[in-house]
Amino acid sequence: MKKIKVGVIGCGGICKATYMNNMVNVFEVIDVVGCADLIDSRAQWMADHYGIKKMTNEEIYNDPEIQVVVNLTYPESHVEVSAAAMKHGKHVYCEKMMAPTFEEATMLMQLAKENNVVMTTAPDTFLGAWEQSARKYLDEGIVGKPITVHAQVTSHYEPESPFFDTEPKHFFFPLHYGGGFPFDLGGYYLHEMINLFGSVKRVTGFGGNINPHRTFVNPKHPKYGEPFEVNTPTTLLAALEFENGVLGTFHISSDSQMSQAFVVTGTDGTLKLGDPNMFNDKLTVTRPGAQPQTGRIRPGEAPTAAGGPKAVETDNDVQQLNEFTMSQSVDLPILHGFYESCRGVGLADMCYALLNGRRPRCHADIGYHAIEIIHGIQESCKTGKIYEMTSRCERPAPIRPSALSFTAQEATLDD
Ligand SMILES: NC(=O)c1ccc[n+]([C@@H]2O[C@H](COP(=O)([O-])OP(=O)(O)OC[C@H]3O[C@@H](n4cnc5c(N)ncnc54)[C@H](O)[C@@H]3O)[C@@H](O)[C@H]2O)c1
Repeated sequence: MKKIKVGVIGCGGICKATYMNNMVNVFEVIDVVGCADLIDSRAQWMADHYGIKKMTNEEIYNDPEIQVVVNLTYPESHVEVSAAAMKHGKHVYCEKMMAPTFEEATMLMQLAKENNVVMTTAPDTFLGAWEQSARKYLDEGIVGKPITVHAQVTSHYEPESPFFDTEPKHFFFPLHYGGGFPFDLGGYYLHEMINLFGSVKRVTGFGGNINPHRTFVNPKHPKYGEPFEVNTPTTLLAALEFENGVLGTFHISSDSQMSQAFVVTGTDGTLKLGDPNMFNDKLTVTRPGAQPQTGRIRPGEAPTAAGGPKAVETDNDVQQLNEFTMSQSVDLPILHGFYESCRGVGLADMCYALLNGRRPRCHADIGYHAIEIIHGIQESCKTGKIYEMTSRCERPAPIRPSALSFTAQEATLDD
């Protein structure tokens, strides 16, 4: 089969955990030529383990064989690496978020146009099993007309971690410029909301960098007790208005303890979504009629169908029966492939898009729109005004359902 040759820049945590294995061993359309990293030993490890070339960034940019540069550096380096690659005529797949600021993202979008190359951006988890199934169920009206979506994720991102900035090996990007929860985890929720509902028209919000002055609190850390500054937003609470009329909340914080919720309400029911950082998760619909219907019954009347209380004699029985009737939830079957840890599926999709002359599903328009949403919320936090979005993006084409797994499911991308 025809393959697309790629060069990988950034051989850190996520490259080692999943990406390189998926690129080399899982997706047949991807042909990894070589890899590079600022820390030479990391690139060497990948080269030795996967039988690819250890290269420098410059060698990757100048290699005429390489068509796509896969940018797996930390967010502070995304702009520099993506810009250099595009100036050398390479297509780019970049991990989230594409840039720390909306201005830099705008510059990258311009560069892609000028150099006539394709840019795509992670997260690609919205191509995963539960996310694609949720889209199909919602598009087919499982909750009627969607009215609201609520996305919430909070967790502590404290520098207790022994990995926090023990230079040069560990640069803990989540609490630095370009990192932070809204960028690091927010992208997953925003990309999935865009997948489900399309472009956002306007945003408003509160919060920002609410706790900038911090101290290294891990006694084992070389800088224990020293102060440091967090220079990225860590808590945002926002309202979003989608072009299709759906109203959303986006609540994201690394300053409070663990919580996670992602739910769509509609005229006919409610769909509880999964964790958009995961490829597989549970989907639960709650709507009248999801289980055998018993109807509302008054004292003295007999139940009309199986499943209700045996005798309905008191007000308490009526209440119980009505609760039973109203709260009808069922877990839905997951209909799509890509339920294993499939990071890189967005890159594989991009490779088929290049071969088949179609639009890639992770087109940078989506990442750009997501960056503008975060930018707009921050502007609204500062000005106290509603921010009108200037960018818009297409909903990516859905993937067809597939009962297949592993390499066989890749056929659904060849469209
Ligand atoms: N860690 C995760 O669980 C995870 C999950 C999904 C996505 N991501 C995303 O993947 C990206 C990388 O995350 P990570 O956790 O692997 O970070 P990391 O810090 O472990 O790895 C990044 C690597 O990039 C290298 N690098 C930085 N600038 C470079 C440059 N200019 N040229 C060459 N190499 C350079 C660093 O030396 C480092 O080895 C981030 O955008 C992150 O948001 C991470």
